[in-house]
Amino acid sequence: MIKNRRKFLKTASSSALFATLGSSFFISCSEKVEDITPVDDENKNEDEDSWENGYNIDSTNIKIDLNHNNFKILKNTGGWKRFDEGALLLVNVGSDIIRAFSSICPHAQCRTSWAYTNNNFTCTCHDSIFKNDGSFVSGPAAGQDLKSLTAKVEDNILTVTED
Ligand code: FES
Repeated sequence: MIKNRRKFLKTASSSALFATLGSSFFISCSEKVEDITPVDDENKNEDEDSWENGYNIDSTNIKIDLNHNNFKILKNTGGWKRFDEGALLLVNVGSDIIRAFSSICPHAQCRTSWAYTNNNFTCTCHDSIFKNDGSFVSGPAAGQDLKSLTAKVEDNILTVTED
């Protein structure tokens, strides 16, 4: 199970790179710095793969229970969540449509410094802005879009897969 999750995360994030660089890795550009502490898959409790926390990750997809307290905000139009365990940005754009993107910023790979206002994501590392369809608006990401993932909802379960 852990092996499968690692395979998925390897494609969804750059955690494997960070794991090889040590226990703490800092990305720096301009004056702003993001502390990225890698996920140590070997020491993670198997229970983290269970539905206890409202999600389940395997080698091919991430499933999220939209009725779970950790994710129910996604049932509301405009509701969004940064989901670090899956390296995702999730947003409800209305009409029961939830979109999913990699939370790894295409500029300098910050992944935990996100804000969402006026239907736009802002990477607050260096203020790149993206529409809620992932397309680049402004900032140092310079024309690079957020990586979009397939997101489908069925029976209040959101399933996110690579395209
Ligand atoms: S990492 Fe620089 S704007 Fe996101």
